[in-house]
Amino acid sequence: MVPSYTATHANAAFDFTAWMQMQLTDVEKALDAFLLASAHRADEQDAPASLIDPMRYAVLDGGKRLRPLLVLAAHDAVASSGTPCAAAAMRAACAVELIHAYSLVHDDMPCMDNDVLRRGKPTVHVQYGEASALLAGDALQALAFELLTPQDTSVPAIVQAQLCALLARAAGCAGMAGGQAIDLASVGVKLSQSTLRHMHQLKTGALLKGSVLMGAASAQADDTVLQALAVYGEALGLAFQVVDDILDATADSATLGKTAGKDALQEKPTYVSIMGLEASQAYAAGLLQQALNALDGLALPHDDGLRALAHMVVHRAS
Ligand code: IPE
Ligand code: IPE
Ligand code: MG
Ligand code: MG
Ligand code: MG
Repeated sequence: MVPSYTATHANAAFDFTAWMQMQLTDVEKALDAFLLASAHRADEQDAPASLIDPMRYAVLDGGKRLRPLLVLAAHDAVASSGTPCAAAAMRAACAVELIHAYSLVHDDMPCMDNDVLRRGKPTVHVQYGEASALLAGDALQALAFELLTPQDTSVPAIVQAQLCALLARAAGCAGMAGGQAIDLASVGVKLSQSTLRHMHQLKTGALLKGSVLMGAASAQADDTVLQALAVYGEALGLAFQVVDDILDATADSATLGKTAGKDALQEKPTYVSIMGLEASQAYAAGLLQQALNALDGLALPHDDGLRALAHMVVHRAS
């Protein structure tokens, strides 16, 4: 699925749509292949279809694949000054999407947001039952780390270790899972802006920032570059969830592929409920500028993908 966004871009030679189409095709093929390989291992019995089917349903055929795109764009951006490793970047791109897909499966379950529609299809627990959804999420999380630690020599050991550390931090109790815990504890609570910001940075921002850093780590970027890209990733990650809140309040379910208007219904604290719609839109625009400023400061020769993705995050329709 190609996101509905047309880039206007500083570097006329960079064709964002063509770049994105190519990456999306490669990511889709790689995800399919990694899922197949995990189901059928040469030296073991096949994994149970009752688990593999909901895993494939959760991951394949849907989603904007924003996190993989960020990994690949960050890898491209630092490739000329670092030590690029395309295999590491593609594994990282797929690993972060597996974590994201697992987070969505669990986020939609009755014990969390209780949603029935995701990526234009019935949610995993509606389709396969709650226990299968829970296990599919668990197994997707494990598979993500398996992808980052191939048994061959395609990814240097130091890069494997860095990618695992970045993904674990982004997904864990001080990242996505922690943010989800704050989200659940905040139903019906009027959060301060700083607590809301903290929740959004963890539940969504951490994985987006982690995607950028994993892309850069795949090319063994140096610390200065990593620090500047962390600023970009942080601004972009927060902007992403601000826009998610805005779209929940303004878009329709058919466009989103998930149930619109749920945040207000479930009394979730969001930027829209706390700042109002217009201030939220202005805030997202300010964050986009912050992300672009971080790239300006770095002046990497091939940061076109990162720039275009920042615009896409804020100007997307779904
Ligand atoms: C939705 O993420 C969940 C949030 C973290 C807000 P996306 O909007 O990236 O979902 P997909 O991957 O495109 O379905
Ligand atoms: C979910 O946030 C974030 C994660 C899955 C970690 P939301 O609950 O706002 O996501 P949607 O709106 O259901 O996609
Ligand atoms: Mg939620
Ligand atoms: Mg939700
Ligand atoms: Mg939402």
